[in-house]
Amino acid sequence: MDLFEHQAKELFAEYGVPVTPGRVAYDAAGAREVAAELAAANSPRVVVKAQVKTGGRGKAGGVKLAAGPDEAQAAAEQILGLDIKGHIVHKVLVTEASDIAAEYYLSFLLDRAERTFLAICSVEGGVEIEEVAHSNPGAIARIPIDPLVGVDAAKAAEIVAAGRLPGEAADGAAALARKLWDVFVGEDATLVEVNPLVLTPDGRVLALDGKVTLDDNAAYRHDWTRFADTEGTDPIETRARARHLNYVKLDGEVGIIGNGAGLVMSTLDVVAYAGEQFGGMRPANFLDIGGGASAEVMADGLEIVLSDPAVRSVMVNVFGGITSCDAVANGIVSAIGMLGGRGEPVRHPIVVRLDGNNAAEGRRILDEAGIDVVEQVATMDDAARRAAELAAAGSPAGTGA
Ligand SMILES: Nc1ncnc2c1ncn2[C@@H]1O[C@H](COP(=O)(O)OP(=O)(O)O)[C@@H](O)[C@H]1O
Ligand SMILES: [Mg+2]
Repeated sequence: MDLFEHQAKELFAEYGVPVTPGRVAYDAAGAREVAAELAAANSPRVVVKAQVKTGGRGKAGGVKLAAGPDEAQAAAEQILGLDIKGHIVHKVLVTEASDIAAEYYLSFLLDRAERTFLAICSVEGGVEIEEVAHSNPGAIARIPIDPLVGVDAAKAAEIVAAGRLPGEAADGAAALARKLWDVFVGEDATLVEVNPLVLTPDGRVLALDGKVTLDDNAAYRHDWTRFADTEGTDPIETRARARHLNYVKLDGEVGIIGNGAGLVMSTLDVVAYAGEQFGGMRPANFLDIGGGASAEVMADGLEIVLSDPAVRSVMVNVFGGITSCDAVANGIVSAIGMLGGRGEPVRHPIVVRLDGNNAAEGRRILDEAGIDVVEQVATMDDAARRAAELAAAGSPAGTGA
């Protein structure tokens, strides 16, 4: 789970990572109020910052300096509603403006390829680190961290020196690095990034931006409900998650249900490929029913995939293993019955390909059920082609056609 900047900074503050004071606001009047509070606390100059889960907000006009409450309100009016790389701005962080002598970069992350934790530090901060990596790769230091030792004083000094931070920033940056490592470990993060890490003219080192990715596998030992992001998440994805289903929204027309991540991924590929012949039909979403495809799981899965208004046809691609094809077929039959019973009859064509354990029995069950929206196709490629063809011929849900 990725956090918004303001949430990242709330965590930073809990661990003693220095950040500027501020608060989030959902409308321009709210932004004005926060700016007024900061002015009363002797910080009349503020920065109004778009809260969206993407970088490059500064360049996109999502970060504006304001000299007081009036300007903060005007800045918020401009920023709220902006579309930054496909993310609509619903809230802004209003925070004290910092004087900046220099901008650096510091992060900790889990480097899966190298199987280690890594610190990345650079004297060239502010701009996107990918740009620095491209234009001046020598300026980026990558320092592996031994998880059993962590970031002690010696390691912190090593990180800061490797990043070539100047002497006047070294102590402050090293102290900040140790606390940032505490955030990383204490919150079970896979990334904590500060860009820019700034040096102020009076010699302090602060985190002016914050990016945190939490490891969802550790959610059970934290209270992360406060970070739930309802605006940014597709409502169908939220519903699927509540039922422990892996559903991902895409932008095409063919709904995809499969069992197992590998099979589902390759189904996406064959559907996209087949769809090229039919005016560019593409997967609308995908749902992995996993190992245990009971009737209820299938019903939930079908209901979720079909509730996506972009879906025009569905491809169910199952390779029977521990869950055999006859169980899946029974699941499909009762799922369609269940949905009909709930007053949500299935109207879109469903192309089913069953193979593997007990496939013949599964096909027989579907044939005998004689459901008119269900069509069986023997191979994956042919099923993908048929699903794409039906999507091209059909119309999206809700048009009545
Ligand atoms: N509190 C602040 N005070 C002064 N300048 C800031 C502040 N926050 C951000 N900035 C400036 O705006 C730039 C972009 O802000 P940042 O938070 O890094 O957003 P992004 O990385 O999405 O562009 C920073 O590099 C910094 O120069
Ligand atoms: Mg930044």
